[in-house]
Amino acid sequence: MATVTAPRRPAAPKIHQTQLFIDGQWTPARSGKTFETINPATEEVIAQVAEGDAADVELAVRAARKAFDDGPWPRMNARERGRIILRLADLIEEEIEELAALESLDNGKPVSDARAGDIPLALDCLRYYAGWADKIHGQTIPINGNYFCYTRREPVGVAGQIIPWNFPILMVAWKWGPALAAGCTIVMKPAEQTPLTALRLARLAQKAGVPDGVINVVTGFGPTAGAAIVNHPGIDKVAFTGSGETAQIIMRQAAGQLKRLTFELGGKSPNIVFADADLDAAAAGAHVGIYLNQGQCCCAGSRLFVEDTIHDAFVARVVEGSRQRRVGDPFDPGTHQGPQVDKAQFDKIMGYIEAGKKEGATCATGGKRVGDRGFFIEPTVFTNVKDEMAIAREEIFGPVLSVLKFSDMDELIRRANATTFGLAAAVWTRDVAKAHDVARRLRAGTVWVNCYDVFDAAAPFGGFKQSGFGRELGERGLEPYLETKTVTVSLDQPRA
Ligand code: NAI
Ligand code: MG
Repeated sequence: MATVTAPRRPAAPKIHQTQLFIDGQWTPARSGKTFETINPATEEVIAQVAEGDAADVELAVRAARKAFDDGPWPRMNARERGRIILRLADLIEEEIEELAALESLDNGKPVSDARAGDIPLALDCLRYYAGWADKIHGQTIPINGNYFCYTRREPVGVAGQIIPWNFPILMVAWKWGPALAAGCTIVMKPAEQTPLTALRLARLAQKAGVPDGVINVVTGFGPTAGAAIVNHPGIDKVAFTGSGETAQIIMRQAAGQLKRLTFELGGKSPNIVFADADLDAAAAGAHVGIYLNQGQCCCAGSRLFVEDTIHDAFVARVVEGSRQRRVGDPFDPGTHQGPQVDKAQFDKIMGYIEAGKKEGATCATGGKRVGDRGFFIEPTVFTNVKDEMAIAREEIFGPVLSVLKFSDMDELIRRANATTFGLAAAVWTRDVAKAHDVARRLRAGTVWVNCYDVFDAAAPFGGFKQSGFGRELGERGLEPYLETKTVTVSLDQPRA
């Protein structure tokens, strides 16, 4: 059975920032309202945070607009912009222990994961985009006639950035990195479940030399603060990571202003294990795929396709490994899995577990709450899953794996692609030709071969189909923050 480590309250990190960050100032919400952010491991309130709404977004957009239209940020030497982004990364690194603790406290992820995973990836992302700042340029184009034609890459303007709670620091880096490098200014709304680290990073950005108004952080709720960002005519572009349902609302609301949109949404990613794979590596990969971040990953490998000839033995191994995972106090360095982020996510996941049982899948391990305080759920594996079941089709966003058996290649590809999502996929095999063939045939934005959840700031990430549009990271991740301007100059001699 999954065991609960003794709940040990660590020395909690100090909460420095709980107000809105607008135009370089810390300010309460105009309304004076606050909301609670809780520690999902204990269900206790961590802090009261300013509850921004349309009135605060108005001020934030005004500040970002001014910083973009008249301020130094888009106009300074690009290399200097890059240096400031590098300084921000250095300041984050200096506070890595404290930031990891704060992230863990607010989100519930093991502090060791935040320390070794989320924050190093965030640093890497900021440093990668810092390097782009002075490498963004246009082309000269040989057009017909006596003209000199060139393109300029210009920042898109004020970027509205709405992020989720599953990787709060990392999502800030993914959003700020390319926007800052491009010369955009920002109004960001962190998720209401995890507002604390984005506020801390805003403080560090100011310390790094990001001019006032370039980064504004408005904490609050989606339908109020989030919608105000989407609706504000002073916002040129919205970058959103979260659920498909919210993305649809955003798309409809943004339609009136034909606002530029990029979406990073959910998935039901197939993780495919062939009989000829390194089965130790594949079993470990199956765990990373489903259990990383308590299963709260957009690219979670939640559909494990296993070739029939190895199915039973391989599944036994995955089940046994699931039982070994330590669930408990996120501050204990030996913990593998912390709580789900909040009651709503906990209830949603438990609902899917019930649905899986009702629809006739076999709950091979897990399926229950761990303890009676905090939103802990056992690592859960369902076998005998049929493609039509809800647990095989819908995003659960928790530590719940659905195992599916396959025998034929064409049938496998058809089933793996039979989803409205297309974010990620993985394939485990020793056959190189088969690996590339499957990688080509899967309709997904990322395909991992003999690995899972390998991220790099240089490699684009994003979805096919309803997993979103646009890409983040890499050179492609800059595109949404840039406009292309074509300048055509007549070379005819002006008549005297
Ligand atoms: P959500 O999509 O409602 O929330 C994400 C962000 O959008 C938050 O900052 C939220 O305040 C904001 N938001 C909500 N409604 C908005 C609106 N009308 N206008 C503007 N912004 C709005 O997702 P939620 O409710 O936290 O989670 C629900 C499900 O979504 C999860 O169970 C999971 O399946 C999926 N999800 C996927 C994520 C991903 O990484 N792709 C991240 C978080 C959730
Ligand atoms: Mg919280």
